[in-house]
Amino acid sequence: ATYTAIVPAAGIGSRMAADRPKQYLPLAGSTVLEQTLSCLLANPAIARIIVATALHDDWFCQLPLAQHPRILQVQGGRERADSVLNALLQVNTEWVLVHDAARPCLHRADLAAVMAAGLQAGGAILASRVRDTMKRGDGQGAIATSVARDELWHALTPQCFATATLRQALAKALAAGVIITDEASAMEWAGFNPKLVEGRADNIKITRPEDLALAQFFLQKI
Ligand code: CTP
Ligand code: MG
Repeated sequence: ATYTAIVPAAGIGSRMAADRPKQYLPLAGSTVLEQTLSCLLANPAIARIIVATALHDDWFCQLPLAQHPRILQVQGGRERADSVLNALLQVNTEWVLVHDAARPCLHRADLAAVMAAGLQAGGAILASRVRDTMKRGDGQGAIATSVARDELWHALTPQCFATATLRQALAKALAAGVIITDEASAMEWAGFNPKLVEGRADNIKITRPEDLALAQFFLQKI
């Protein structure tokens, strides 16, 4: 099977508070986004990578990879889900992956695992197990209950789905005003139960400044 990978990269990185959107910050000899793209490019079943960038983005076109024959740029949207939906309109393969620009530490084996599981189950996401004891708050700063940890997962990316199903679920969920922070939420809302594929916990999303140092460390160990 062939896949298209969508890379939402239209965020501004407000929590990073750097001089540029975090996906364009230097990391391990290139940039966050280039590290992310290089893992996807290394997979021969990914026919095309669609990068959604912000309207007045002056950074993407300066990357050498912007000219790559397997990479296409589209305009992003107001929220991450809008960026993904815009990119989905250009997808012409049966299977699609969505992977955050801000997750540069993805390993090839995890990518391959979620691609296989998505195709087999109709939908799958990379996820990692929660390590801490989890509490539900009572809204007043005290504990209401403990939550069974073995049922809880961190939702990571990539997330892999049948293109037509995801497009329909995401469009309907957005039109209904549902808050969608990953593709699986749209699929769950539409009545699907995507598979959890246990992936590496070092597939972190670069969010705050200290995450860059962590990512640098993880990439050295790849
Ligand atoms: N993203 C996007 N379009 C948006 C918002 C976010 O494509 N309108 C992308 C980001 O570029 C990032 C991914 O979605 O690769 C995950 O979002 P997040 O980590 O929240 O990035 P930002 O929104 O840029 O960061 P912040 O929330 O701190 O502003
Ligand atoms: Mg954000």
